[in-house]
Amino acid sequence: MVPLKRRRKDGGAAPIAGVQERAPVNRFPGVEIFLLERRMGSSRRAFLTQLARRKGFRVQDTLGDSVTHLVSESNSGDEVWEWLDRQTGGQMPGSLSLLDISWFTDSMETGRPVEILDRHRLQDALEVLAENAEFSESEGRGLAFRKAGSVLRSLPFAVSRMEDLRGVPCLGEHSRKIIQEILEDGVSGEVEGVLRSERYRAMKALTGVFGVGVKTADRWAREGLRTPGDLLTSGHRLSREQEAGVRYYEDLNCPVTRAEADAIGEIVKEAVHSILPGARVTLTGGFRRGKEAGHDVDLLITHPEEGKEEGLLGKLTSWLDSQGVLLYQRVSEGSGGRGRESGPMDHFHRSFSILKLGEQPGAQPGASSADQTQEAAAPRGQGGAQGRGWRAVRVDLVICPYSQYAYALLGWTGSQQFERDLRRFASQERDMSLNSHGLYQREQNRYLPAASEEEIFTHLGLEFIPPPQRNA
Ligand code: UTP
Ligand code: MN
Repeated sequence: MVPLKRRRKDGGAAPIAGVQERAPVNRFPGVEIFLLERRMGSSRRAFLTQLARRKGFRVQDTLGDSVTHLVSESNSGDEVWEWLDRQTGGQMPGSLSLLDISWFTDSMETGRPVEILDRHRLQDALEVLAENAEFSESEGRGLAFRKAGSVLRSLPFAVSRMEDLRGVPCLGEHSRKIIQEILEDGVSGEVEGVLRSERYRAMKALTGVFGVGVKTADRWAREGLRTPGDLLTSGHRLSREQEAGVRYYEDLNCPVTRAEADAIGEIVKEAVHSILPGARVTLTGGFRRGKEAGHDVDLLITHPEEGKEEGLLGKLTSWLDSQGVLLYQRVSEGSGGRGRESGPMDHFHRSFSILKLGEQPGAQPGASSADQTQEAAAPRGQGGAQGRGWRAVRVDLVICPYSQYAYALLGWTGSQQFERDLRRFASQERDMSLNSHGLYQREQNRYLPAASEEEIFTHLGLEFIPPPQRNA
């Protein structure tokens, strides 16, 4: 029995009575399965594990780096993503495929791993086309590709044939054509062409500069500029914002981790509380939705006594400046109004800023003295975070009156797509107009007050949707 025991320990199955145990060979190199226990249950998981191992599949008990196929049952795509995010701290191994149980059962029936399509590849392809459309100011087309991508992301199964997509909403003709190409040939000629094109590359690099929009990037790209470095040598006049964008280019294009976002939150809280005790600072945006990384830190600031928040932003940014923390800011004056007529933009007193985040325990992985040479070698004005002990972080500081706090919180938590969908629902289904300031009931010609997000959902006749489920 000794060999059997050992076998079981390194991944072999326990014997079933009457069934001859086979050696735990991996008949399919490059395929290592992990079965997600969530919703599947432990006994079914044990049964399926045993089944697969008997057929020569390698099944791992824990989610290690070698796992290539994660199989789940009765979970939505988003649920699996959230679970994975928590397990891996956002560091998802690039080679991992997320698969529905149907891939597993098909493979068991066939006796070999049936072909799958890495859903990432489809999403990435659509994302590239969305960006490319936006680079030519075709917002509508861009949005269509983004919707298609987000629909694929939430499918609870892997796509292997076009028939899998029958009846799936939000997939336009063009998106379907791209998906089909990738399903059949492994790549899409159109997407590859975009990725190779000089224009796309230049637009990608130039719009990656904080303060540079599509129009400006387009003008520069036509003049032959290709990289942020070209901006420094070309003698172009840059706005203060763009100058900061070029100076902190690498930092601002390096994702902000949750630990960094929390650290920024603490710095701002401390400042706010020293200026105005009782004020509230809330981390919103993607981090409130549970994301592990983001492009900026969104902080919403209010005070339970309405009116006390007035004048706070100026004092706060002066305080941050005096501490050497404020690297850049542009203040947008609040109009005070609700801005019902002016579309999705809100009217809060707000600072688009870049803050300096010093070395925080756990917030700066990978910084080592060896990187310092790299920084010294980098072109002037393009230093990265590595090795210098601090990094630049984009931060939005938003001040809101307490009576609008619930609406501001809902509006700033996102995602952007979720907000769009919710606003369209309010308008089309409820004849109401929703934005970050309030909810306006058109027929009654009045604003509906709300003290919490829950109350807003109630006004809309919807069940409360918690932030982690607003990633759509
Ligand atoms: P972000 O652009 O910060 O997105 O806006 P995010 O979801 O946090 O993702 P990353 O990780 O930073 O990229 C957060 C929310 O704030 C709203 C957006 O609509 C989004 O829902 N927002 C943003 C506004 O309401 N007004 C703005 O001027 C900017
Ligand atoms: Mn954000």
